[in-house]
Amino acid sequence: MSKDISLIFVGDVVGEIGLNNLIAELPKIKEKHSANAIIVNGENVWEGKGINEEEANKLFDAGVHAITTGNHIWENWKSRPLLGKDRRVIRPMNYPAGNAGYGFTTFSAENGVKVGVLQLQGRTFMSTIDCPFNSADFAIDKMKSETNITIVDFHAEATAEKISMGWYLDGKVSAVLGTHTHVQTADAQILPHGTGYITDVGMTGPYDSVLGMRKDIAIKRFQLQTAHKFQVAEDDLKVAYVHLNIDGETGQTMSIMAHTTPKFENQVL
Ligand SMILES: [Fe+2]
Ligand SMILES: [Fe+2]
Repeated sequence: MSKDISLIFVGDVVGEIGLNNLIAELPKIKEKHSANAIIVNGENVWEGKGINEEEANKLFDAGVHAITTGNHIWENWKSRPLLGKDRRVIRPMNYPAGNAGYGFTTFSAENGVKVGVLQLQGRTFMSTIDCPFNSADFAIDKMKSETNITIVDFHAEATAEKISMGWYLDGKVSAVLGTHTHVQTADAQILPHGTGYITDVGMTGPYDSVLGMRKDIAIKRFQLQTAHKFQVAEDDLKVAYVHLNIDGETGQTMSIMAHTTPKFENQVL
């Protein structure tokens, strides 16, 4: 059996509605790419903030191998027990020591090949947590003792910080995939030393919205400059993901392509 990995990485899933739509679409996506490894960013599943055990198990039952999260995982108490309990669920590694959960994990893909997943979070326009670059060095060394196929989910706000991480890790990991900003960027590429890269994978959930949340509430927050409770939107469901082919021997990315399905209306490609 080939040692190569055909990997699907799904961008931030928003709401129960986004989760259920992803689960319905996943068999088709998996078949289309003959995927043998699936990673999902689930930081926004539970009413837009965090993910609980039942929701995570729905993803695992659908064939997902690992779940990454992000800053919103800390805002939902229902997420906390999951972080300490299930090694397949990770959170950004560079939060200060003492917080619950794991920052990286490994799993066996369907062809038996081990895949490492590391999550880091940026510090620009976000909480000033530990240095993601130093954390990357530490975790990659650990993961490399088990496998040379390593995927980094870099959960960050600033495009410059994400691109910097891509260059910093080029040749050290299989891919650096950006999450958090919920808008898929048109820069999927293979960097010179074989690392697949995209600034943001995009959002999986309702697009008749502002980043998955009801647009009337989002507009009100900007106009009135006061707090109004976010609610997950409902219409125009899409799945945003990247597909990578990774060489099982070298750990280098051989191809990377970003997808949003179904495509945007009136999109000309
Ligand atoms: Fe998110
Ligand atoms: Fe986030």
